[in-house]
Amino acid sequence: MAIRNLRLEGDEILKKKSREVEAIDERIQTLIDDMIETMHKYNGVGLAAVQVGILKRVITIDLYDDKGPIVLINPIILKEKGEQEVEEGCLSFPNRFGKIIRPAEIVVEYTDRTGKKVKTKAKELLAQAICHEVDHLEGEVFVDKVIPGTLEYVEPEN
Ligand code: NI
Repeated sequence: MAIRNLRLEGDEILKKKSREVEAIDERIQTLIDDMIETMHKYNGVGLAAVQVGILKRVITIDLYDDKGPIVLINPIILKEKGEQEVEEGCLSFPNRFGKIIRPAEIVVEYTDRTGKKVKTKAKELLAQAICHEVDHLEGEVFVDKVIPGTLEYVEPEN
């Protein structure tokens, strides 16, 4: 496993659309392992492959609860329900946070890293994280979607 370089604000790749994963081969498994390690290194709750420079539809999420890291390959949001106004950040935009409207609940379909098709409901923070990461796969970044005037720069603590 290895920590990969994060693509940061201003990098044009963040605006590109990612491609479907056709086969979950060894390269994809290595990518997933590296993404999880990179996400943990920077204490992120989610990472999309594009953020490490790979335009593939792969997402890792970890809410640091008992579910452990979740891997979503080729995710599709089938349904959105309700709204939540939440604070959001992104590993590609260090120390920047803003308020954003996300669905309160979603139904998402994806393939897990073993190749199994999964259809599940997500709400609250998990719904927020999945929507944020699926946006990355479309080349969309949260700073373009925040409620106007709410984007802040927060000084790092150390
Ligand atoms: Ni992000």
